[in-house]
Amino acid sequence: MNFSLTEEQQAVRDAARDFAQNVLKPGVIERDEAQKFPADQIKQLAELGFMGMMVDPKYGGSGMDSISYVLAMEEISKVDASTSVVMSVNNSLVCWGLENFGTEAQKQKYLVPLAKGEKIGAFCLSEPEAGSDATSQRTTAEDKGDYYLLNGTKNWITNGGTASTYLVIAQTHADKGHKGINAFIVEKGMEGFKIGAKENKMGIRASDTHSLMFTDVKVPKENRIGEDGFGFKFAMKTLEGGRIGIASQALGIASGAYELALQYSKEREAFGKPISKHQSVQFKLADMATEIEAARLLCLKAAYLKDKHEPVGLASAMAKLFSAEKAMRIATEAVQIHGGYGYVKEYHVERLMRDAKITQIYEGTSEIQKIVISRAVLK
Ligand code: CAA
Repeated sequence: MNFSLTEEQQAVRDAARDFAQNVLKPGVIERDEAQKFPADQIKQLAELGFMGMMVDPKYGGSGMDSISYVLAMEEISKVDASTSVVMSVNNSLVCWGLENFGTEAQKQKYLVPLAKGEKIGAFCLSEPEAGSDATSQRTTAEDKGDYYLLNGTKNWITNGGTASTYLVIAQTHADKGHKGINAFIVEKGMEGFKIGAKENKMGIRASDTHSLMFTDVKVPKENRIGEDGFGFKFAMKTLEGGRIGIASQALGIASGAYELALQYSKEREAFGKPISKHQSVQFKLADMATEIEAARLLCLKAAYLKDKHEPVGLASAMAKLFSAEKAMRIATEAVQIHGGYGYVKEYHVERLMRDAKITQIYEGTSEIQKIVISRAVLK
């Protein structure tokens, strides 16, 4: 066992930290307030090679490992979780799904621009009545020979308005249950594909979340991913890796809030001394530091297993469950340490607290992670 980072991994972490502090931090409060998508910042992330971090360079990616991805996600999420969710969905759901299960033609046409960050991708599984219960897909994809006819609605789709390439999960053979589900590549602009209103969210407000409507959209047969009926497994396999990205986002929110609280506790005086000299604050900081370290180790372990091509479902569910719960707790404690200042926008912690909540909900709620974990331990 080796806990040291390589020089390359340290360089990625430092580049991400530098980018977060110097490019993302100025303007992050205003983007959150105005729900302004970080378009310029995403372009710069692409120039750093962070939109297709783990994709093979032959498909336009950076060929980095998952450990580097966790390190970058943590640093970026410390400052701007709206930007990091765009990055996470593009990297670990869309690019990873296409690279691992797409045909060569699909990779050339769709993966290359996504990995270079020239285009943005979205992953479309959730529906008005199928969030956690993902096998209950109501969106249908009727096999018409040369094409599929897609009908239905998807909800809460990250990058819903800004994406060009959408991976859409739909039911083809209802009688076969989850074995009748398929995954498709759908392009923005296909006839019958409409993007609904942008959601006005509690947190990650600068990210772009929409519902999507499909009415008789003709999707060419060559846009199906994998064999007929592979769609549910495609979604599950992709999500189990994707959870490492969201776990790292939660870790970043937690460590960002902690660093702000630590700094503030040294500056703010009460009862004649800095509040960091009061044991009530010291104990909070001790708990926060310990929990963050544990969350980081869980994220890195899941990434390590992924890089070794070992089963990752249990480790990624544990990393996501723990990191998301701790992000919510630690961000709330960071607001508490800041007192009244924590409740106003200039001090950043209230945003991190709002952003933390989504990590307990998307890419599987905390309850879904507990289902995955309990099934594994009870096997
Ligand atoms: N890898 C491969 N196959 C898997 C799998 C995995 N990780 N997990 C399940 N499967 C397979 C099972 O083996 C089974 O196949 P067989 O019948 O051939 O054995 C099939 O899938 C059905 O599995 P289950 O019986 O376990 O299905 P279930 O109905 O009990 O549900 C679940 C399992 C874990 C609860 C699943 O529905 C789930 O993960 N739900 C949450 C969905 C989710 O995370 N949504 C997030 C949306 S994406 C998002 O948020 C992106 C964004 O924009 C930020």
